[in-house]
Amino acid sequence: MSDKKNIQVCFTADQFSKYSDGKSTVVVVDVLRATSVISTAFMEGVKVIIPVQTLEEALEYKEKEGCIVAAERNAKPIEGFDYGNSPFHYINADVVGKTLVLTTTNGTKAIYNAKEHKVITASYINIEAVANHLIDEHHDVIILCSGWKGVFNLEDPIFAGSLATLLLSSGKYDSNCDSLFASRQLLNNANGDLFKYLSDSSHRRRLKSLNMEDDTRFCLAPPVKSTIIPILNGDKLVVL
Ligand code: MLT
Repeated sequence: MSDKKNIQVCFTADQFSKYSDGKSTVVVVDVLRATSVISTAFMEGVKVIIPVQTLEEALEYKEKEGCIVAAERNAKPIEGFDYGNSPFHYINADVVGKTLVLTTTNGTKAIYNAKEHKVITASYINIEAVANHLIDEHHDVIILCSGWKGVFNLEDPIFAGSLATLLLSSGKYDSNCDSLFASRQLLNNANGDLFKYLSDSSHRRRLKSLNMEDDTRFCLAPPVKSTIIPILNGDKLVVL
């Protein structure tokens, strides 16, 4: 009997119940932009991140000492919040030691849907660290793509293809998941230039219409790498 562990890819937060097994490690990805924001915020010194589901819940923290409240809906920042959902909010900003309360359209929902599992978050900023951690841990893995409002998006499966390729190349994993197979095919089709390959994707076009192309470039090909792995501990993301 092979001791290889299994990898699956779930394409949307809403489909997670089809994959949930109560024991796999779940890697949540929302590469444009929630998990890239989470990686960047921790890298810049944020101490704790509280992902919440509603704007009202996030605003309950607005006046609390040491809290930053950040919200995005349909890629747009929300009035009354300190930040939207750009990684650039946190770079060279006054965030060291702060608690970030974050609610986004899809990414924080994916984290919530998987909360009964061990949940870590991944982006292209910490992908190598996440892969090394999973290989060391050697458990079954579900890569949970956030998607967009319950439907498939292109960028998260491509990331899933990137992470799955790293895990499979270790020789310690195997998969018979068609979503994973498709994700790797998409990654191969991108031929190393994700920004170009995603030119006509829905979310890149949505961000472009909001003059946020720099966010897309940063998230798809970050100029920095981090070894920080955010892990869900109760209702908070902390540094593993
Ligand atoms: C999401 O939650 O779908 C994304 O984070 C949206 C965004 O920030 O553009």
